[in-house]
Amino acid sequence: MRISIFHGVHDLSAALARDLVDRLHRTPALILGLPTGRTPLHFYRCLVTLSTEGHADFSRATTFNLDEFLGVAPEQAGSYQQYMERHFFRHINIDRRQIHFLNGAAPSADAECARYEADIAAAGGIDLQVLGIGANGHIGFNEPGEHLAARTHRVILRPETRRANAAPFGGDPNNVPTEALSMGMATILQARSIALMATGAEKAECVAEMTRGPLTTRLPASFLQLHPDVHVMLDEAAARRIR
Ligand code: GLP
Repeated sequence: MRISIFHGVHDLSAALARDLVDRLHRTPALILGLPTGRTPLHFYRCLVTLSTEGHADFSRATTFNLDEFLGVAPEQAGSYQQYMERHFFRHINIDRRQIHFLNGAAPSADAECARYEADIAAAGGIDLQVLGIGANGHIGFNEPGEHLAARTHRVILRPETRRANAAPFGGDPNNVPTEALSMGMATILQARSIALMATGAEKAECVAEMTRGPLTTRLPASFLQLHPDVHVMLDEAAARRIR
C-alpha cells in the first residue's frame, strides 16, 4: 500500500482530483468507481472546479457508484444518487447514459445486484475505484462480520453505520434504511487502481489496522492489502496511529 499523509482534507482532495484528471487526460474513456459520504465532498468540489475551468473533460467517462440504500428510490432525498447529482454530476459534462447506480427501489434486489455486476463487466471493469472508509472498517457497505460477500449484494447495515448516515435522513438513525446494496469485496478489488481517502481522528484506529493488521472479515478494508495498486490518502488526524 502506498500511503500519503496530507496536512488536511483540502490538500488531500486537491491531490486526488489532480490525479484523477491526469488519468482522464491519458484515458478519456476512464471507468470510475465512486464513493459517497462526508469525506469525498471536497474532492468532488475540486473536480467540479477543474471541470468548470476547462481542465477536465468527463464527456467520455463512465461511473459506477459503490452502493445505495435499499428501499430508497433514486429521486428520493437521502439516496446516494441524489447526493451524487447535487455534489458532482449536475456540474460536469458527463454523458448521463454513462452514469451507473444501483437502484435501491428495484423490484428484485438480487436481480439488481446481478445486473450491476454485468454492467461493470460489460464496461470492461473499473479503472480507478475511489473509496472512503467507515469508522468500523467498512468499504462500500461491506460491513464487518463473520464473512464477506465477493460480489454486489444486499447487506444489513450495522447500528453505527446507520448512525453515521443519519444526516440525509433528518438526523435520525431510525429513519436510515436497515439494508443497502453494495459492490462486493471482489468487485472492489478487481478495480485496476484504488484510492482510499480517510480523514479525521475517528478513522485513525481502523486506518492503522487496515494498513498494518491481519486480513480479517472483522475489518473489511484490511483486504485492500491484497491489491497491487492501492493509494491510501490520509489527513494528519487519520494518520496519527501509523506515524
Ligand atoms: C458510508 C458509505 C461508504 C463511506 C462511509 C464513510 O457508509 N457507504 O462508502 O466510505 O460512509 O463515510 P464518511 O466519509 O462520511 O465518514
